Amino acid sequence: MKESSLNNFEQNQPMSQYVDFYGRVFIINSDVLIPRPETEMIIDTILNLVGKPYLPGVKPSKAKLPQNLTIADIGTGSGCIAITLKLELPNATIIASDISEKALKVAEKNADNLDASIELLQSDLLEKITAKPDLVVANLPYVDESWEWIDKKALSKEPALALYANNGGLELINKLIDQVTERSIKHLVLEADPCQHEQIINFAKKKGLTLRETRGFALYLSE
Ligand SMILES: C[S@@+](CC[C@H](N)C(=O)[O-])C[C@H]1O[C@@H](n2cnc3c(N)ncnc32)[C@H](O)[C@@H]1O
Repeated sequence: MKESSLNNFEQNQPMSQYVDFYGRVFIINSDVLIPRPETEMIIDTILNLVGKPYLPGVKPSKAKLPQNLTIADIGTGSGCIAITLKLELPNATIIASDISEKALKVAEKNADNLDASIELLQSDLLEKITAKPDLVVANLPYVDESWEWIDKKALSKEPALALYANNGGLELINKLIDQVTERSIKHLVLEADPCQHEQIINFAKKKGLTLRETRGFALYLSE
């Protein structure tokens, strides 16, 4: 980690702290979601898709996609998914986007600290993404504010923009599925609460995407 640039960043940012994600240290602050352990399943899912071993002693599946694929990470936040994918798959091209400029600054700092060469872009979902990625990955906000089991006080240090979505938490996920299928992007890996999976699978099916794998909170859908 480059200490001098990190110190500069910390001086200018609210309450920076460090978290581990997939064995690497990421800097975060109140502008981004704290990376969660369940999101690591997204990385395992994608490594398995390209035939790369992700667990000691477990054979990966036969590769469905090449390791030099182009991936767009939508709602990148701290950049934990995009940066981890670049470091695990050095031949991949990674585009990391977020609607929040403040989040993108955190992602940029993490990419710099971890020496990950990724493209960062401000965009509302796929709106500003001109490239056609082989795969879209997204951990978008999916919490519905009405869920009784949510501890809103515990979540109050993270931005609402990173957590909450309307329509049972599915508003952004459904919009992304629409955009992915309109652009004929063939592979989509999403995170959502397991209680939402059935609805997502049914909606995606109507749009031409089939569920291929569920791994914890992660769903892999493809044409
Ligand atoms: C649940 S956080 C995930 C952050 C990170 N990918 C992770 O897994 O820790 C969702 C992210 O989506 C971003 N976001 C919210 N609405 C968006 C939109 N319409 N387009 C793109 N990004 C959006 C938020 O700013 C936030 O950074």
